[in-house]
Amino acid sequence: MKTERELHALLASLTLSEKAGQMVQQGEEHLGGTGGEITGPLRHLRLEPGTTLEIGSVLGSTGAAHIRELQARHLDRSRHGIPLLFMADVIHGYRTILPVPLAQGCSFDPDLVREGARMAAAEAAAGGVQVNFSPMCDLVRDPRWGRVMETTGEDPWLNGLFAAAMTEGYQGGPGGSLRDPETLAACVKHFAAYGAAEGGRDYNTTDLSERTLRESYLPAYRRALDAGCAMVMTSFNVVDGLPATGNARLLRTILREEWGFDGVVISDWNAIGELVPHGVAETFREAARLAVLAGVDIDMMSPCYANHLAELVIAGEVPERLVDEAVLRILRLKNALGLFDDPFRQADPEREARVVFHPGHRALARKAAARSMVLLKNDGLLPFPPDGGIVAVVGPYAVERHILGGWSCLGEDADAASLPEALAERLGAHRVLAAAGCGIEGDDLDLAAVERVVSAADRVVLAVGEHPGMSGEAGSRAAIGLPGRQEALCRAVFALGKPCAVVLFNGRPLDLRSVADGAAALLEAWFPGTEGARAAADLLVGDASPRGRLTMGFPRSVGQVPIHYNHFNTGRPRTGGADDYFCSGYQDLPSDPLFPFGFGLSYTQFSYGDLRLDRPVLDPAGCLAVSVPVTNIGSRPGSELVQLYIRDLCGSVVRPVRELKGFQWVDLAPGETTEVTFAITEPMLRFHGADLRYASEPGRFLALVGSDSLHLQEKEFVLSQDRR
Ligand code: BGC
Repeated sequence: MKTERELHALLASLTLSEKAGQMVQQGEEHLGGTGGEITGPLRHLRLEPGTTLEIGSVLGSTGAAHIRELQARHLDRSRHGIPLLFMADVIHGYRTILPVPLAQGCSFDPDLVREGARMAAAEAAAGGVQVNFSPMCDLVRDPRWGRVMETTGEDPWLNGLFAAAMTEGYQGGPGGSLRDPETLAACVKHFAAYGAAEGGRDYNTTDLSERTLRESYLPAYRRALDAGCAMVMTSFNVVDGLPATGNARLLRTILREEWGFDGVVISDWNAIGELVPHGVAETFREAARLAVLAGVDIDMMSPCYANHLAELVIAGEVPERLVDEAVLRILRLKNALGLFDDPFRQADPEREARVVFHPGHRALARKAAARSMVLLKNDGLLPFPPDGGIVAVVGPYAVERHILGGWSCLGEDADAASLPEALAERLGAHRVLAAAGCGIEGDDLDLAAVERVVSAADRVVLAVGEHPGMSGEAGSRAAIGLPGRQEALCRAVFALGKPCAVVLFNGRPLDLRSVADGAAALLEAWFPGTEGARAAADLLVGDASPRGRLTMGFPRSVGQVPIHYNHFNTGRPRTGGADDYFCSGYQDLPSDPLFPFGFGLSYTQFSYGDLRLDRPVLDPAGCLAVSVPVTNIGSRPGSELVQLYIRDLCGSVVRPVRELKGFQWVDLAPGETTEVTFAITEPMLRFHGADLRYASEPGRFLALVGSDSLHLQEKEFVLSQDRR
């Protein structure tokens, strides 16, 4: 471990070009020595293999033996001997793949998410990775945007909880140390507001008021940083007219000055180079200048810093002090990771073989998948009774096993069982039939085999959804129904009259109107990861109970988006009365989603007693208790997520109709009742007021408690003016 003084001395010993090199991230091909041709980014960099500018970090390499070799080769050649940093996208697992983050969010279980991140970090760190480009906590309100799959949903506060949980999981916290070789340094992304891309089209512009940015989009990144997140990645999009990667107001004023962040800021992939097509820089040289002045410490995969940073300093266009500050931050991170003591950070092929894809990890992935799935409808078909009869699995996911989801690192489709295989493990192969009928995409529909297996079966599982490439980066879709001929397949199967459960494998909320009515049950399995099919089978046969709740509502139609539960009331809200014509709404559809934020069923039912407040007035220094009895009125044990929302009835600026402020899981046996109590305190009522100050305002509020964002009881209380 180097002292701060030693780090300064190391910095002082570097040439300008060596300093610039620390601020460059490229793929491993850039390290040279492979005898390879100079292609792609290398061509832009005008560098010769083996005689390159010494870069500071490497993107995307994995594998302990491989990374040891790259590091050793680098150190062998390096004049200054500063180890490389190896960074990768371990978004929902390394080899053992967890459900995609949107699904993990639906677990409403930050402890489970933390545990999953810890598992992913242990595997990836054993494989030589040191920095993880996760958590991604971009707020999302538009399911056309493919990257909704990578975030935990539409709620700013909840996204913050998960971003903190993932950060702690990766970094061994709370209270962990990056010197622990089972950890990864976390990098929160994409700063900022990438999820607000207009039209849901990836990389598109965002246009947000300062208030919306601060109130809704920024808090989750902040939570990750408060949890100790080591790095921040900039986003591709424009924020208030300037791309985030050249936006000094975001990166210096807000991130560093207001929030006090002193870790490393990295650009997204080629985002500095993209300042040129954005139209705020004429040349890569100008782009490099803008980015370094704005506060980007590492240039990921663009030629800008490598080719121009040193020359900009020599020309006096960039103060060397800014370069020194950036390099010092990078050296501090390398030091915190222990790389100056052990540049391999205990990456060790033997440990890697022991840790990666460990059965315990697969068990955790199965639990996480089961807890992430959301039961959207159940007319009593699920769970299948133990006698079971014959089950026909039809639809593209009766044969496909692409259920890991995008960004699945070293996960392999072959690691996952298909849904029929997983059901056969539970029911016996003789009781499971399968026929695809159509592909995920394309125009072919072949009903002959489908009709055969359905007529031989007692129950049907329609296994349908998207291809993983249809969500994730550049995975935007203008229409969000089931792709290809799958809706036609569903209609044809419903018409055969057998009780039918639809199981969905997808990475975004879909327009499910064409399948929701015909299905007797609807299970949203998302892209559930390595053990996802087994987890779905666990739920279908009733060995586990569904308990996931949506963290992103499912619109009725793409015409409703952007849609989010915490919207404003408008001056003309619909009341359902006769004079609803000149009101805010659609002529052809209700305004609410098909399945709202917070919604999800279980195999039992719960009833809520009367909501009670322990006092009508909340003293700003005090606490108000809101309680409700909850009873399991069904015949099976089950878990209910009791949700607390608050509405500020009148403020200096308009406030959302409800905002999630708390939740509690209760596990209840049949007939059992428990009292659930939430404490409401003044900090929960703060917001950015007319003057953008973050504070509460005295006045009337509603406490709303219930089972999802639309089914709520409410009680009014007052926040008093003075501290008594
Ligand atoms: C994505 C980032 C990712 C990076 C490195 C970019 O294209 O936007 O989320 O971390 O690539 O792989």
